[in-house]
Amino acid sequence: MAVQKDLDAHYTRMDKIFRLSLGEKGAYSCARFDGDFSITTEEAQLKKYQFIENKCNIKKGTKVLDIGCGWGSFVDYLTQRGVNAYGVVLAKGQADACIKNGLNVKHMNSKDITPQTFGKFDVVTAMGSPEHLCSVEEYEDGQQEKIYKTYFKQIAGLLSVGGRFYCQAMVFGPNMVKFEDIPFNKTDLRKKVFTNEELMDIICRVFPGSWLPYGKEGLIEPAKEHFKVISVDSGRLDYIETIKRWTAAFTKFNFKKYLLFASYIPAYLTNQSFREWMRRFKIQANLLVFEREIFEHYRIVFEKI
Ligand SMILES: C[S@@+](CC[C@H](N)C(=O)[O-])C[C@H]1O[C@@H](n2cnc3c(N)ncnc32)[C@H](O)[C@@H]1O
Repeated sequence: MAVQKDLDAHYTRMDKIFRLSLGEKGAYSCARFDGDFSITTEEAQLKKYQFIENKCNIKKGTKVLDIGCGWGSFVDYLTQRGVNAYGVVLAKGQADACIKNGLNVKHMNSKDITPQTFGKFDVVTAMGSPEHLCSVEEYEDGQQEKIYKTYFKQIAGLLSVGGRFYCQAMVFGPNMVKFEDIPFNKTDLRKKVFTNEELMDIICRVFPGSWLPYGKEGLIEPAKEHFKVISVDSGRLDYIETIKRWTAAFTKFNFKKYLLFASYIPAYLTNQSFREWMRRFKIQANLLVFEREIFEHYRIVFEKI
């Protein structure tokens, strides 16, 4: 499982850039365009939230837990509608931002939540956090299935029979490469073109401590003992569009943001790990892995049985 240090390396490091680009409570997971790329990113994120509301029967007063709530976008959306919303998040920068912005969010590792922590919930959601459950080392050690089984058992314990769990996550797609062919930590980031294997090396450096499930089955199979599937659909094309919109937002001029970029120059010149982080950012491995179908993305509505 990714630990706080792993998550801080990505989410906390980009905290200020993110909030200046996508808003204090911006969403940082795939939006729902459903093929209509004429709508704005905000409209597509709203469409995702309305989809979850309808599918999970969320109303005023419903008690909802959002696991890995990022900068609190969904918690904020629900709270504004009179929903009894809770969020947990492990990256420190995100937790601090959520709390500063008055959201009902706790800085904690989701693995430590029990029915005693906040009581039981009517609905649980997780968007973009199930990807961080299994580390590369745990995968190599043959633990991935057990880790996901434990996760679904834990979530089932937070719900009553009939309670719904909305799970949206990246998984490995049809063109995933062989594990033994990945040149871990060896890819020269100054190259212009990368093989699929090199992209996997880069993506593992972008998201340390995280190894994805294989296909939608990698989520559905370990859930089987506790959940039935209500609906499942691929969000791969929506994710490609979402990432392109994020890139445009991150580079869009904003005086405060450009001052922030300027303040990074000394670190860029003197700190190799910072330079590498900037290069990884520029390569856009996250977009390429979806375009090449090394990654897939699924949105699954589960119901506790
Ligand atoms: C891709 S972001 C998605 C954020 C948010 N769900 C959204 O849609 O905007 C993944 C989030 O999961 C959080 N996360 C990952 N593993 C976690 C864990 N074990 N406990 C709590 N939060 C976790 C990260 O800090 C990050 O906020």
